[in-house]
Amino acid sequence: MSKFIASPANSLSGNLKVPGDKSISHRSIMLGSLSNGITKVSGFLEGEDALSTLKAFQAMGVKIEREGDNVTIHGVGINGLKKPEKALDLGNSGTSIRLMSGILAAQAFDCELVGDESLSKRPMGRVINPLKEMGAVIESNDGKPPLKITGGQNLKGIQYDLPVASAQVKSCVLLAGLYANGDTCVTEPAPTRDHTERMLKGLGYEVRVNDNKMCLTGGGELTATQIQVPSDISSSAFFMVAAAISPKADITLLGVNINPTRTGVIDILKLMGANLTLANEREIGGELLADIRIQSSKLKGIQIPESLVPLAIDEFPAVFIAASCATGETILTGAKELRVKESDRIQVMADGLSILGIENQVLEDGIKIQGGSFKKPTGIIESHHDHRISMSFAVASLRCNYPIEINGVDNVMTSFPNFVNLSNTAGMAITEI
Ligand code: S3P
Repeated sequence: MSKFIASPANSLSGNLKVPGDKSISHRSIMLGSLSNGITKVSGFLEGEDALSTLKAFQAMGVKIEREGDNVTIHGVGINGLKKPEKALDLGNSGTSIRLMSGILAAQAFDCELVGDESLSKRPMGRVINPLKEMGAVIESNDGKPPLKITGGQNLKGIQYDLPVASAQVKSCVLLAGLYANGDTCVTEPAPTRDHTERMLKGLGYEVRVNDNKMCLTGGGELTATQIQVPSDISSSAFFMVAAAISPKADITLLGVNINPTRTGVIDILKLMGANLTLANEREIGGELLADIRIQSSKLKGIQIPESLVPLAIDEFPAVFIAASCATGETILTGAKELRVKESDRIQVMADGLSILGIENQVLEDGIKIQGGSFKKPTGIIESHHDHRISMSFAVASLRCNYPIEINGVDNVMTSFPNFVNLSNTAGMAITEI
């Protein structure tokens, strides 16, 4: 088990390019594999999660070549996947297992999906239920992985009202809908990331979007294209917070995805008073990009609007560090979903903040954080192998007078393999041991 020692640092500068978006990288492999023709992907995230998806599709007979962040997928068409020889191991990746269960529920063959210790504890009922309604046959370990999917079913299109605002569940149902008889429609209680819908359209598949309802008709085909993956706003968020809390900072994050279903963290940091501006906004392959400049900021505590929660769902660990360095109290509610991410991100962050002397109160669906200053740590921070917890506390070092130790940082490799290197290039002092 590896750990970070993050030593005090107080300035940050430079133009930084963070790696490709994880959600888009996963979808590029899944949809590229199901397309007719060759899909060339650039800017692919070389993190373990996206690689789990890549290996799973290779195991189902798709020829996929990778040279660094360039990937060539020789699509097999919508019905071209082959039965894998053994269970597909999706490691730590919730996106892989939830989206792929939609595709695999509709195949002619049986298969089994497994994951690591964290993934094996995560709820899968949210995808199993709608898939069963469509006619899928899936066995689980009391609603958790492993998932055993029996192939050879004829799926039927359904109208599904998502009980939780989840892009993974929406995508799972729409992907199963590609194979279903008739129309499949999903309504979402609040907007969630729409990369699946955008990429399907980019590959020539009609998706009808009307307000909070998305529909498609089964039985169509996907046509290969080029996919350029923009930089991940979730990885960028660590540097946004780092620059905002750092006494001396001026950084620019290049080519970041600013899809409006992902920009909650920008809105939250701006409400807190962050000195953050967007420039060079452009559209590439159906996704919006911008260069984001952030300078040192005087942050103030806020009540986070609940409408921003699904739009910033992965960025809250970093936002909690910003809240710890703000004047006054920050209150988050309506964020129960954080309890079922790679770890219980409310409790695990609260425990780490307490070790750094930050007053906080855990709520059932959120947290209250009293801004203050980080004190001499009273122990080692446990990240519970959650990549985003590890990186968030590393960023806190910009306002610490003592080194911080963060345990269980191995899973940073799932989403941001060069995090330590890039952080140190910008001015932080993190070592991994
Ligand atoms: C993702 C959706 C979100 C997010 C996850 C990636 C996706 O999960 O937390 O990191 O790629 O669709 P939920 O849909 O469970 O909110």
